[in-house]
Amino acid sequence: MKTPNLNEGKFFSDEMMQSVKDSFYFVDVDLNGRRRLFFDNAGGSFRLIKSVEAYARLAATPDCPERIHDTAVYLQSIQDKGQQDFRMMLNVEDGSVYTALTASKAMFDMVRVISDNVTGSNMVTTILEHPSSYDAMELNAERTRRELRVAKSNATTGSVDVEEIIKLVDQNTVLLSVIYASNISGAKLDIESIVTEARKIKHDLYILVDAVQHAPHDVIDLKNISVDGINIAPYKFFGNRGMGIAWLSDRAAALPHDKLRGKPGAYWDLGSSDPAQYAMFSEIINYVCELGQHETNDSAQRNQFVKGMQMIALHERALLARLLNGTVSTTGLRDMQNLDVYLDNEDLTKRDLILAINFKHIEPATAVKEYGKHGVTVFERVNTSLYSKRMLESFNLQGAIRVSPLHCHSAQDIDEFLVITKKVAEQAIK
Ligand SMILES: Cc1ncc(COP(=O)(O)O)c(C=O)c1O
Repeated sequence: MKTPNLNEGKFFSDEMMQSVKDSFYFVDVDLNGRRRLFFDNAGGSFRLIKSVEAYARLAATPDCPERIHDTAVYLQSIQDKGQQDFRMMLNVEDGSVYTALTASKAMFDMVRVISDNVTGSNMVTTILEHPSSYDAMELNAERTRRELRVAKSNATTGSVDVEEIIKLVDQNTVLLSVIYASNISGAKLDIESIVTEARKIKHDLYILVDAVQHAPHDVIDLKNISVDGINIAPYKFFGNRGMGIAWLSDRAAALPHDKLRGKPGAYWDLGSSDPAQYAMFSEIINYVCELGQHETNDSAQRNQFVKGMQMIALHERALLARLLNGTVSTTGLRDMQNLDVYLDNEDLTKRDLILAINFKHIEPATAVKEYGKHGVTVFERVNTSLYSKRMLESFNLQGAIRVSPLHCHSAQDIDEFLVITKKVAEQAIK
């Protein structure tokens, strides 16, 4: 059998592509029914129809899960299933799952509790972190009088090199917090090597991972990667806003934290979490498993899920390759005049489907408006924004247009985007 060229990815079949598009709301048109290409999924992804429906169905019931009635017992089972699904997604068995209103809140809680309870004199993070983890690290380092050490980025790969992080870790490091994939460049960090190497220096180091941006694009497998906490945001992973979900290792969950006194020691939820959110999350997991069932007969949920995520990753890589290289009849971004592709690592296996581009003679914010006129939604990342400044400046960039399609897009959608981009680029030359 011919091995597929993984660097180039693998498109879904036409039939599967259609079924994927049909599974989500507003893939090809906006709220008003106008044709548009939504390439801002890194700011919030397409919503899975079954997820939204499950959310609405459960949100409609007034019952409190902490009762004995049938509906309450049913709501408890939905929450348990959501938690099991999250563990399955990460491939972990122990530890605690908890939810917060946002992924940022979950990250702030984890960082605060670890910095309050673990001894040491420094905390390590990277320049590419989202403010939800960077600011949590900085504020807590200041509050607890620790030195904050920040690993620099690599402008060639758009990532952070393992050695840059590891050289900052020592016996006195309280906590290492790393992002799984950059929400500016799409570059993945080599989490497995970072964790392995960091633990060679301090075997019981506390490590947190922000997987918000990476989760919708590829498999996460923590079976052999021992971290203490990880968070995701379902609204970037085919679901709705309203919940951040986090997992904590047994030892991190057991650290003293805000809790109701009567709850078990490792329990982190404060007050009542929302069963409707868990129902929404389980539908995301079901969707990925159903995708996987097209390519595996395995009945184990984890294997179906892994297969589904691999299919998504390969389809997205094929979309990325097409965006960059074009086709015989459509110029790719790399060959387009008047346009720069930033942080353009040749090795696509190291990237998720997020791109940073910039027209040479048109400001990102203006270009975003131009795209809008052509029915394309993209987002500008500029160094005046608190969400972009630190990361962009680390790459010596002032601004960029972030292009973030999703596996719901087809090769034809990419071609349409390329044609529009060429028009905008030519406009800029005039
Ligand atoms: C990488 C990353 N981490 C964390 C967050 C924060 O997520 P939330 O808005 O749920 O707090 C975001 C949101 O943009 C993100 O991109």
